[in-house]
Amino acid sequence: MPDLLPARIATGLSTLLLAAWLGACATVATPPPTLYERLGGAPRIDSVVGRLIDRAASDPRTRRSFDGVKLQPLKESLAAQLCAISGGGCRYEGETMARAHAESKIVASEFDALVSMLREELDRSGTDPGAKNELLRLLAPMKRDIVVDAATRGAAIGP
Ligand code: HEM
Repeated sequence: MPDLLPARIATGLSTLLLAAWLGACATVATPPPTLYERLGGAPRIDSVVGRLIDRAASDPRTRRSFDGVKLQPLKESLAAQLCAISGGGCRYEGETMARAHAESKIVASEFDALVSMLREELDRSGTDPGAKNELLRLLAPMKRDIVVDAATRGAAIGP
């Protein structure tokens, strides 16, 4: 019986070591969440986009561009674009930003109004502020493609 004790201790020790090793592996192997995941994935992105487009299409500051535009396909295209740029694995198959907005001749104040609506909708949906700002930073450079004469109107979107 007494000679079983060291064997038990050895078994216990190796179990502990195995658990520690597996724990370390699990820590190393878990990738950080993508921006897409931090934004809440499809359910939250789709609902934020839905509310954003409904608002933009009726807000006096932005609505003129949405006259006669089919909102559902636009929502789906924007949601796919946001999913693609935030690492959600979607493929955006729409137009370039320059082409999609060329006809509307969008000015900086319209762009800024839409972005502030997006910021409000992200806040309202409970999106993490870090994820929100990261998304807004990804969208900021698009201003120069969307807005006419953006160079003279300034191009930054603040957090
Ligand atoms: C960062 C800001 C913006 C992003 C990321 C964005 C993104 C998009 C995307 C992905 C599409 C669909 C293109 C396609 O499917 O081919 C689109 C179309 C459109 N966007 Fe934007 N947009 C932005 C700003 C704006 C602003 C400021 C306005 C107006 C105030 C606007 C009005 C429209 C309209 C009316 C369409 C539909 C065009 C059409 O179907 O003829 N967008 N946008």
